Amino acid sequence: MNHRITLMPSGHTCSAQDGETVLEAALREGFLLPYGCRNGACGSCKGKVLQGRVDHGATQDKALSPAERERGAALFCQARPLTDLVVECREIGAMRDIPVRTLPCRVQTLERLTHDVMRIRLRLPASERLQFLAGQYIDILLKDGTRRSLSMANPPHDDALLELHLRNYGGPFSTHVFTQMKEKDILRFEGPLGSFYLREDSDKPAILLAGGTGFAPIKAIVEHAIHNKIQRPLKLYRGARTAADLYLDELPQAWAREHGVQYIPVISDGKAGDGWNGRRGLVHQAALEDHADLSGFEVYACGAPAMIEAARHDFCGQRALPEAAFYADAFTPAVPA
Ligand code: FES
Repeated sequence: MNHRITLMPSGHTCSAQDGETVLEAALREGFLLPYGCRNGACGSCKGKVLQGRVDHGATQDKALSPAERERGAALFCQARPLTDLVVECREIGAMRDIPVRTLPCRVQTLERLTHDVMRIRLRLPASERLQFLAGQYIDILLKDGTRRSLSMANPPHDDALLELHLRNYGGPFSTHVFTQMKEKDILRFEGPLGSFYLREDSDKPAILLAGGTGFAPIKAIVEHAIHNKIQRPLKLYRGARTAADLYLDELPQAWAREHGVQYIPVISDGKAGDGWNGRRGLVHQAALEDHADLSGFEVYACGAPAMIEAARHDFCGQRALPEAAFYADAFTPAVPA
């Protein structure tokens, strides 16, 4: 039986399906509550039950003491409603409310998606989960003191493993990943970082512009939007050099078929007669050709700095996109720690 949960002080309401925790129900309906381990061990998700009853589930005393429980506190990652509830909790309004953490992780899988793109899946320690917003990135902390920024390609609700897409540009980290890294290797990272995430308080149609492995955070954003049943129109322009570089292409094809996300792949390096029947040229140029007026849109762009700059310049300059509605994440080289 579903139970209605009212989140205070905002007054937002959500409905918990059978067996769901308060946290799962709130996240599924798009309300960001804080969490850490999702395991009853850290206390990050603690709040108060003001009305109604919960099954507290498996909690550790260091995260929720018996005295706190007595006073109505609960760990929302474990607590399951037994009745309708009114709960007091802190809702996350922006990325500044999510703590940046340094965590160890283990390489779970390495999978070549093309000759020069690797999908890396990372497993966190059993008692940890990383809270983040779809589109954010982490910095891998390297032994020589440099760091390598990589966007998470998995959406926040699917956080058992962190998924990263890495192109081999020949730098030290990508060379290491492509030639020496093995499953079970240990890494350290800091995150989540960055202000590139879907603004969910807007219902404007959004153009998503992804160049190369800039597809990673865009994938997270689209999968998050689908999971949360966000209704605003999404139009994905995806640029690659050749058709073979459109890795995981079956995903955006399925988003288009099953969820109405418009998908326009654009290749820049093909030649006539190469069998490609789709759009050609620069990816931001394709979006420019399709829209005479972008004043009512938001744009989320991720890719090489030249693509981002050209898109910002042309969308805002020629198509009346407000500067404040252009969100971007440009690839930057590894930086010293
Ligand atoms: S106790 Fe860690 S997230 Fe709930």
